[in-house]
Amino acid sequence: MIRAGQHAARAVAAGPRAHCRAQQVRYRAEGASLLTHSKGAGGTSHNIEESQQYWHDPVLRDQAMKIPTKKAKKNGKDELAGLPDTTDILDAFNTHLENQTRFHAGYPYNLDYDFRKLRRFLKYSINNLGDPFVMSNYGVHSRPFETAVIDFFAHIWEFPKDGYWGYVTSCGTEGNLHSILVARECHPDAVLITSKETHYSVPKAARAYRMECVEVDTIPNNGEIDYDKLNDIVAGYGAEGRSMILNVNLGTTVRGAVDDLHKVIQIMEDNNIPREKFHIHCDGALFGMMMPFVSDNGLSFDTMPIDSIAVSGHKFLGCPMPCGITLTRKEHIAKMSQEIEYLNSVDTTIMGSRNGHAALFMWYALRAKGVEGLKNDVETCFENARYLHGRLLESGVKAERNDLSTTVVFERPPEDFVQRWQLACEGDIAHMVVMQNHSKTTIDAFCAELELARVLAKQEQDK
Ligand SMILES: Cc1ncc(COP(=O)(O)O)c(C=O)c1O
Repeated sequence: MIRAGQHAARAVAAGPRAHCRAQQVRYRAEGASLLTHSKGAGGTSHNIEESQQYWHDPVLRDQAMKIPTKKAKKNGKDELAGLPDTTDILDAFNTHLENQTRFHAGYPYNLDYDFRKLRRFLKYSINNLGDPFVMSNYGVHSRPFETAVIDFFAHIWEFPKDGYWGYVTSCGTEGNLHSILVARECHPDAVLITSKETHYSVPKAARAYRMECVEVDTIPNNGEIDYDKLNDIVAGYGAEGRSMILNVNLGTTVRGAVDDLHKVIQIMEDNNIPREKFHIHCDGALFGMMMPFVSDNGLSFDTMPIDSIAVSGHKFLGCPMPCGITLTRKEHIAKMSQEIEYLNSVDTTIMGSRNGHAALFMWYALRAKGVEGLKNDVETCFENARYLHGRLLESGVKAERNDLSTTVVFERPPEDFVQRWQLACEGDIAHMVVMQNHSKTTIDAFCAELELARVLAKQEQDK
C-alpha cells in the first residue's frame, strides 16, 4: 500500500495547488476505498448527489428544511414551491449521516451494529414510565427487557444476589445525576469529592442539588486523581465527622484515565471512615462496561465498599439512540421511592417517561454479543488502540495512551482534519477513542490523512 508520506512527497514536489488537489483526491479515494462500513449503514453512494448540494450550504439548507406555517392554498403559491421535497431532504440527510459515520474518531461511540431486526418496533410508543420493577398502568412497555439488562449488568459488576436496583437511563449523565441524588438522599450533609478531570455532569449534579463539591488535582501526564491530595481531603472531612460522596472515574472523558478503586478504598480505610459515612460512585461512562473484561482490575460490588455505577449504552455497547444504565445497592433506593397513584408505580427515576426502545435495543445488543462477544470487542479495541498509538509515533506525532484505555491522545491536528474526523479537542491535544468500528484499515486511513494534513499545514506555515 502506498503510504501518505509518499503521496505527500509527490504532491509537495508538484507545488501547493497540486497539494490541495492531491489532498482532496486522496481524501475521496481513501474514504471510498479504505474505510470499513458500519454494518448498520446502508451501502449506497457516499457523496451527496449534485442535486442535493443545498445540504452543504447552511442558508439553502435552512430554506429547504422550512416547516410551512400557513395553510396550503388550493390554487395559490405553495410556501414550499421550488424547494426540495421531503423525500429528497431525507435522502440527503441519510447520505450525510452515512459519511459522518465513516469519518468519526473523536467520541467514544461504537457505530458498528445492526438493529434491522428491531425495525418493526418503531411503530409502537414504548414507554417504561415509573420504576422498572413496578408495573404502571401503561401497558406498552418493555420492562421485561429492561430488567434482563439490569440483571446482566448486576452479574458482570458482581452485585450481591437480590441486592441491587437500577434502570435504563437516557444517557451516562442521567446515571450520574441519579446516583449522586441517591447518595445525597442517604447522606444529606455530604460533600462531593471528585477529580478535576471528571466529566462535567458530576459538578453539574453538585450545582443542581446545591452540594459542596471539591475538585481534587490529577496526577500530571496521567489523569488519575492525585491520591495523596485525596488522602489529605478525606482526612480533613473525616476529622470533622462529615459524610463524603466520592466520584471515581472509570475512564476520564479526555484521557481515559482510570482512578484506582483499590487505592481510593484504602484511603477510606486508612482514615478510619465508617462505612455509613461514605458513598462511592463509579462514573464508568465508557470503561465501566469494558472493565470486567480487562485483566484483574476488578469491579466487584460484592467485595468492595462501593455503592453505585453509571455507564452510557451508546458508547461501548453501541446503540443508535443515547441511553445508559445505572445500578445502585437496593437498600439505598428505598430513600428515593415515592408512590405515585397516577402511575400506579413508584417514582424512583430522574425522568418520568422513559425510552422503552432503548431498553429493547440494549437487550438485543447484549443478547447478540453475550459475555464472549463483549470480551472479544474489548480485546480488539485494545489491540487497535495499541496499533494506532504505534502508527502515530511512527509518523512523528506525539501520542500517549493509558494502559487501561483505548483513548489515544495526540497533538492537535490542523483544523480541517479535526472537522473531517470529528475529533474532540482540548487545548493543544486531541484524542481518538478506538471503538469497534475502527479497524486497522480505518486507522491506516486516519494516520495517512493526518500525515498529509500535517505536511500541508507545515507548508502553509512556511510560505
Ligand atoms: C467520564 C464520562 N462520564 C459521563 C459522561 C456522560 O455520558 P453521556 O454522554 O452518555 O451523557 C461522559 C461522556 O462522554 C464521560 O466521558
